[in-house]
Amino acid sequence: MSNSFLSERGPDGVVRVTLNRPDVHNAFDDRLIAELTKALANLGQDESVRAVVLTGAGKSFSAGADLNWMRRMAGYSDEENLADARGLARLMQILNELPKPTVARVNGAALGGGTGLVACCDIAIASENASFGTTEVRLGIIPAVIGPYVVAAVGPRQARRLMLTGERIPAIEAMRIALVHEVVPLEGLDAAIDAVLKNLLRCGPEAIAAAKGLVRDLPGRPITAELVDDTAQRIARLRATAEAREGIAAFLEKRRPAWLA
Ligand code: COA
Repeated sequence: MSNSFLSERGPDGVVRVTLNRPDVHNAFDDRLIAELTKALANLGQDESVRAVVLTGAGKSFSAGADLNWMRRMAGYSDEENLADARGLARLMQILNELPKPTVARVNGAALGGGTGLVACCDIAIASENASFGTTEVRLGIIPAVIGPYVVAAVGPRQARRLMLTGERIPAIEAMRIALVHEVVPLEGLDAAIDAVLKNLLRCGPEAIAAAKGLVRDLPGRPITAELVDDTAQRIARLRATAEAREGIAAFLEKRRPAWLA
């Protein structure tokens, strides 16, 4: 049985994860979900990992949930069905919260859960031929476990249209609604990803993880005294770390910080 995804680690600490079920446009089934969740959890714990790039083998990024698997699950007991759905919800959560910067390299169609994976990544770069959509309603289901991340990415107004119509949108429209950050010709995709990685690798790894937590925690919170104090505590904590001392010293001494050397 071939690997449901491929994982390749570069000397720079960048791990490239490629969904590898091209025959079904990288749709994910229970096996891929379980294996990818485990792999991401390990990458999140690994200090040598500086960034994770997620992409798809073949012409699509991911066609979302494997519909054969979905059909199979409908025949299972309520408990089994729920346990299985929780597995997919957990995958989305672990990707969203990974303490490493994540970059979606969207090489083609990213539909249903594929759009969900994109929304869970920190940065998304799409090729011009990519398409997106929460197509679930067209199948009589809903984009439930991806919902929180899609709404966080595009806001409730755009999410209503996407989720209620199930329509497919081209990459350029996905950029307009902030689902992706950049759209480039397919042949320029790797150069665009490399440019993003170059910026990420300049930054302190612990600072990136903390910044990611900050961005995740802020939306929807009223600016109360408690929040203001929370932000003060975060910077007080961060600037005392060895990483911050090194970063600030390197700037003042006009040299590269240790993580760039
Ligand atoms: N689950 C299972 N199989 C899938 C799949 C999915 N989500 N998406 C595609 N496939 C399979 C097709 O059934 C087909 O299988 P076959 O070769 O046995 O007939 C094969 O992948 C090729 O798909 P096809 O539709 O012929 O390719 P295409 O290039 O014309 O279109 C897509 C590619 C991804 C745009 C199209 O397959 C599609 O829209 N897929 C459904 C996406 C979706 O709605 N996902 C939401 C799931 S909740």
